[in-house]
Amino acid sequence: MTSPFKFHDKTIFVAGGTSGINLGIAKNFAANGGNVVVMSRSQDKVDAAVETLSSYGFKSMGFSADVRDYDAVENAFSETVKAFGEIDVLVSGAAGNFPARATDMSPNAFKSVIDIDLLGSYHVLRASYPHLKKPGASVINISAPQAFVPMQLQSHVCAAKAGVDMLTRTLAMEWGAEKIRVNSIVPGPIKDTEGMARLAPTPAIIEAVKQSVPLQELGSADDIANAAMFLSSPVASYISGAILPVDGGWSLSGAGVMMDDLVKLMPK
Ligand code: NAP
Ligand code: COA
Repeated sequence: MTSPFKFHDKTIFVAGGTSGINLGIAKNFAANGGNVVVMSRSQDKVDAAVETLSSYGFKSMGFSADVRDYDAVENAFSETVKAFGEIDVLVSGAAGNFPARATDMSPNAFKSVIDIDLLGSYHVLRASYPHLKKPGASVINISAPQAFVPMQLQSHVCAAKAGVDMLTRTLAMEWGAEKIRVNSIVPGPIKDTEGMARLAPTPAIIEAVKQSVPLQELGSADDIANAAMFLSSPVASYISGAILPVDGGWSLSGAGVMMDDLVKLMPK
């Protein structure tokens, strides 16, 4: 939790920051002095996250909002700025996932992931823009290896996260003149997360995943948080438009082992 980077008097907004990787990011910024705001659908998760974040001794607040609801997202940003001032760091990480063949999911199932991951990311970026610190804001989209590694049972997530990385690249260009930096972090398989529980649901698959990572281990939420703090620190001031894997080298090998085993578990 200690980091060489400090965020005292900085406002950090984490969309989807109430569990898993994103909560890990929020906690690390709070542990290093940041005033952290989280937003997700469940009021109970928001309340629990704010209680945890406040325990680090700095300011915290939260909003119950669905990233698919643009007005609710816009309201969360305007209330944040009224209370905490302009946003220094924006992390956009709300997402949904389930394993299913493209032909086994309904059009609405495919749409739900596109709406949360891709359209929701656009909503967060679009609504935050008037409130981002100019110059100097750091914007981080939480992507996934699916953005560039095609995976069976993941057509919806592959399509959505590829779009998220293109939002990173295009907005890095459009916002560069205002000295807003936009980057993606690509987590690999991260232990004790909902994403891993859904895509690696058995001990055998978890073990296969570990073996398929060049570093032979799963990552942690702290690994992702460290990358987020680095990207939001002054030493990263010339990094924009980057797609940064933090995955032990996993995406190099294409994630085939895990998905092959998962495909075998799916009903024909
Ligand atoms: P998680 O705990 O389920 O995190 C998802 C977060 O987003 C939760 O706080 C959830 O809270 C929120 N959320 C979901 N739908 C939302 C919506 N429609 N509107 C607002 N908030 C919403 O899962 P995770 O595994 O840690 O994943 C976090 C991020 O890392 C995701 O972007 C995921 O794609 C990425 N990732 C994860 C892994 C992994 O190994 N786990 C690998 C690569 C990438 P509510 O339920 O309260 O809405
Ligand atoms: N296989 C196939 N279709 C599925 C499915 C699965 N495992 N899970 C959900 N769906 C379908 C539903 O049947 C529904 O389609 P329908 O209306 O044609 O029946 C559609 O997806 C939307 O589901 P619903 O539960 O109404 O959506 P939601 O907006 O409440 O939830 C999800 C969105 C489905 C992505 C849900 O899993 C979620 O909230 N996930 C957040 C947590 C998460 O995924 N964490 C990992 C982070 S990557």
